[in-house]
Amino acid sequence: MEGSSSLQQVSCRAKGGAPGFKVAILGAAGGIGQPLAMLMKMNPLVSVLHLYDVVNSPGVTADISHMDTGAVVISLSLSLWGHVLLYNVNHGLVRGFLGQSQLEDALIGMDLVIIPAGVPRKPGMTRDDLFNINAGIVKTLCEGITKCCPDAIVNLISNPVNSTVPIAAEVFKKAGTYDPKRLLGVTMLDVVRANTFVAEVMGLDPREVDVPVVGGHAGVTILPLLSQVKPPCSFTPEETDYLTSRIQNGGTEVVEDFLYLFLSCSLLGSAWLYLQPIRISELPSITEEHNTLSCLTDDSNFFVHMSEAKAGAGSATLSMAYAAVKFADACLRGLRGDASVIQCAFVASQVTELPFFASKVRLGRTGIDEIYPLGPLNVYERVGLEKAKKELAESIQKGVSFIKK
Ligand code: NAI
Repeated sequence: MEGSSSLQQVSCRAKGGAPGFKVAILGAAGGIGQPLAMLMKMNPLVSVLHLYDVVNSPGVTADISHMDTGAVVISLSLSLWGHVLLYNVNHGLVRGFLGQSQLEDALIGMDLVIIPAGVPRKPGMTRDDLFNINAGIVKTLCEGITKCCPDAIVNLISNPVNSTVPIAAEVFKKAGTYDPKRLLGVTMLDVVRANTFVAEVMGLDPREVDVPVVGGHAGVTILPLLSQVKPPCSFTPEETDYLTSRIQNGGTEVVEDFLYLFLSCSLLGSAWLYLQPIRISELPSITEEHNTLSCLTDDSNFFVHMSEAKAGAGSATLSMAYAAVKFADACLRGLRGDASVIQCAFVASQVTELPFFASKVRLGRTGIDEIYPLGPLNVYERVGLEKAKKELAESIQKGVSFIKK
């Protein structure tokens, strides 16, 4: 492609003196894509940012490019024949790409490709319900990667991650470009939530908490290893149940309407307060209430706070963009050669008998340098692991079959 090679030459010049990596976001105009693009624009490790979507990417690009962050880079225009007509220095390192015909230009020469393209979960949908739509989108985008930047690190966000990562692997295998060290399913949001929820229960600063979350990225496949939390914490069986369930269902808390019951009681002379999230759809008699409500009941032993969450308008986008940037930054620091960059991710793995599994990985100059074993698990976690593996095996198989068929 003539236009593409011109673009490649010029983007290399753009990188010239400015150290940094070239990053593409596919699905950049979406709920996750937009804040993700904004945060990546603020990352000093990024020298060129390509924003691709099938809708609205020019507007998002213009918006983001007005931010006065980042290096001065070269922008260009292409003639009808793909030759560079002019290029000039401007104040944006962001380029927008719209629609399938521009996918290859968006991908050429990229070091890191982040994929939040696809449809999000709606109330009542499981991540697997998304499969048919998102599987096709991920397949097309990965075919573009095999052609244009086969050596790029790929961060796959589109759900169901437990199936889309195997889909991507099969696409890359088919094209002969598969390197398992470079394909990572993003499970960082589970870790971010786990750190936050554990910190809440233990009264700690979430920035100081590190919870390994292994397995996969849907329901029971999300397995927080609370026995390995840093700093070391001990949890009662009730706390373990509450935290595990909240971490596994954190996404549903954002997607669905929830009623939070703050239950108070007195036990052994002390007052206790419990937070109990209950789906509003499970309590039809209370759905008439307005957006946020706090009221004392007759016997004053509990009060309720109702939140409409996103009420069908989408799934986690802001915390996900934050988590995706945290993860992408770790990948870029690994590429730069920083030592001891360790994060959890869903990757091709021999940690269990399954071909893919999320666990801690060390990131380096070529992607994953090392995959860590799970470490000692307690009985609760061993039971959880068996449940996780059963569901994970089906989701992985579903992804593999989608391409093999
Ligand atoms: P959204 O609908 O707001 O945005 C998706 C974007 O993808 C849209 O701008 C859409 O135009 C674009 N898109 C659709 N088809 C495309 C294609 N063929 N090529 C390029 N772009 C395309 O959805 P949202 O909320 O941003 O979620 C995106 C995905 O991320 C969903 O699959 C969602 O389930 C997943 N997700 C993953 C999480 C994780 O922890 N890994 C957490 C939350 C969401």
